[in-house]
Amino acid sequence: MSSDTSSQSLATGTTVQPMIWSSGGLRLLDQRRLPQATEWLDCNSAAAVAEAIRSMAVRGAPAIGIAAAFGIVIDAQAGRDYAAAETVLLQSRPTAVNLHWALGRMRGVFDAGGGAGRLEAEAQAILVEDVTQNRRIGEFGAALLPQGARVLTHCNTGALATGGHGTALGIVRSAHAEGRVERVYATETRPWLQGARLTAWELVQEGIPSTLIADGAAASLMARGMIDAVIVGADRIAANGDTANKIGTYMLACCAARHEIPFYVAAPSGTFDLNTDSGAQIPIEERVGEELLHLAGQRTAAIGIEALNPVFDVTPAALIAAIVCEKGVIRPVGRSGVERVLGLS
Ligand code: MRU
Repeated sequence: MSSDTSSQSLATGTTVQPMIWSSGGLRLLDQRRLPQATEWLDCNSAAAVAEAIRSMAVRGAPAIGIAAAFGIVIDAQAGRDYAAAETVLLQSRPTAVNLHWALGRMRGVFDAGGGAGRLEAEAQAILVEDVTQNRRIGEFGAALLPQGARVLTHCNTGALATGGHGTALGIVRSAHAEGRVERVYATETRPWLQGARLTAWELVQEGIPSTLIADGAAASLMARGMIDAVIVGADRIAANGDTANKIGTYMLACCAARHEIPFYVAAPSGTFDLNTDSGAQIPIEERVGEELLHLAGQRTAAIGIEALNPVFDVTPAALIAAIVCEKGVIRPVGRSGVERVLGLS
């Protein structure tokens, strides 16, 4: 296992890694346990990978897609049925289109007669390409920020949510390396606390000046002139630029518009869904109410209350100053900009 770890580190050149591939198995850094514990979860079947995605041991749109691709490889190596593996993985979570995108690439290899070896090479390529794309996003995005930028970000879009480096947090990483970042404000991101648990963990490890805020504090910081830019990731971007991301993103975009603060989205091209016309057609995952009613295993809400737990929302294109992807910066955000930068027009 250790030699596989170092060879993958060399391939991606990143320090924090959400997963390690070794022939016959996928090790996932269990994100349900961070930052209290660093535990690895071994997955030896596509069904186990699907369960890890569903239960959020691995999460974040690009990371889900990469893990699913390796799930296909595991079952191919074991001689299990391709379609069954694909189906169980596709059903694991509904909103992040990267899952469909990565499984589409794997399906292309399989349909062309590719066996386990070629499927493994494709999954490795998806992982390595993701890190390369994130570094490009980082370069493009950093150039949008002023010197001494105070950036607000939501959820976790860092190395843990991707193959490495990150998307929105990758921009923060790149901008910090260029000496442009004064401070990052990370929202808690209730109810799952991706910000408090994961983004904070990554920022502290990297020594990036950072401050955790309650989700509800964002508008107040904007009103006090403490934020220069908001940067978030995406789980699915419709053809017109409407963007689905972690619940609370739309609220941040509304607040940023009110305070004339640029609101940026960062995502690789695999997050665009050109078959979806607008945000209204994006499936929004609803998770169990228990995630709201309990905190760290303790019931916190009054007994008897009902909970509604949509975990993504849609930000209209009109509220997004720019979308940064590895192919360039889409600005203004709309159908023609999306098509131009993705090379479709
Ligand atoms: O429910 P999660 O933690 O999978 O949601 C993650 C997000 O919403 C991220 O912002 C998005 O996937 C982009 S990750 C680079």
